[in-house]
Amino acid sequence: MSTMTPTADNTLDAPARNAGAAAPTAFDLDAWSSIRLHQVEQALSRWVTADVPQGLSHGAPAQLVEAMRYAVLDGGKRLRPLLVLAAHEAVCLGDGAATHEAALRAACAVELIHAYSLVHDDMPCMDNDVLRRGKPTVHVQFGEASALLAGDALQALAFEFLTPQDGSVLPATQARLCALLARAAGSAGMAGGQAIDLASVGLPLTESQLRQMHELKTGALLQASVVMGAQCATPSAQALQALQSYGAAMGLAFQVVDDILDVTADSTTLGKTAGKDADNNKPTYVSLMGLQASQAYAQQLLGQALHALDTSGLAHTEALRALANMVVNRAH
Ligand code: IPE
Ligand code: IPE
Ligand code: MG
Ligand code: MG
Ligand code: MG
Repeated sequence: MSTMTPTADNTLDAPARNAGAAAPTAFDLDAWSSIRLHQVEQALSRWVTADVPQGLSHGAPAQLVEAMRYAVLDGGKRLRPLLVLAAHEAVCLGDGAATHEAALRAACAVELIHAYSLVHDDMPCMDNDVLRRGKPTVHVQFGEASALLAGDALQALAFEFLTPQDGSVLPATQARLCALLARAAGSAGMAGGQAIDLASVGLPLTESQLRQMHELKTGALLQASVVMGAQCATPSAQALQALQSYGAAMGLAFQVVDDILDVTADSTTLGKTAGKDADNNKPTYVSLMGLQASQAYAQQLLGQALHALDTSGLAHTEALRALANMVVNRAH
């Protein structure tokens, strides 16, 4: 059993209570995740809600919130929130209660940016997909203009999550988290990577061009998840550097595996349309180096991510290790 045993009151500061316990055994990712996933779902459901001006515009803002909730709730692996929480716990060494609110807000904020990126990614002007998380995509369900606006509003809401006005998150932490998330989402991160993706249709990219595209469109937000979780507390310079390296390797691995699954998995398992990359003539790791070499590359990146954790000086990296393994060895 891990040292991060869920507690009766659902708090995340369990490591402190179990610190110094006897020899660790295999880490149970499912047990670790379930309590945190529950917290994230509850927070998202509570916060992505109808704070909508009443009596305006024939209920249009309420419909927008419905599209936002449809995009975010009840679906997805929630990998990014789990990374935020795992990195926070690793850095806190059990003293995470004071910064737990910041970490939960960061976890949800990153998921909102991710959900917004999916809504826009699926639109006809981008990947033109009709299935996401096992449901019709947002533009299919609500129309293109609503999907565009839902994405816009989810992005704005992410930054609202990071800036509560009730004193629960220190102003310096708020500023740090906003800067990290803005950078990862913008032209030097996800949006920039998506621009490269769209400009690369049908082009034979070199490995370094493809890597840059993947690092930006997907890796940046995954790396930011790890760094934001750490930055909710006070990581040492050594830990921060190691976590950045871990996030970079794992973030790239994630998109390499996404490319692989597009070829090897079916739509039901994925909850999105399989075979879409080839249909859309997208350059991917599979199209560049083939299936086997892509799988080997993902394992190599996993090794790099785990090695980075070895250099972190952190005592409790079990969850981060298990999440990296999950990223590379997942079925969907
Ligand atoms: C899919 O991300 C989009 C990419 C960045 C490749 P996920 O595979 O994390 O999607 P959900 O959140 O589980 O639906
Ligand atoms: C999407 O990459 C990356 C972002 C949404 C930023 P993909 O286009 O490969 O993601 P899927 O396969 O549609 O989930
Ligand atoms: Mg895409
Ligand atoms: Mg897509
Ligand atoms: Mg894909």
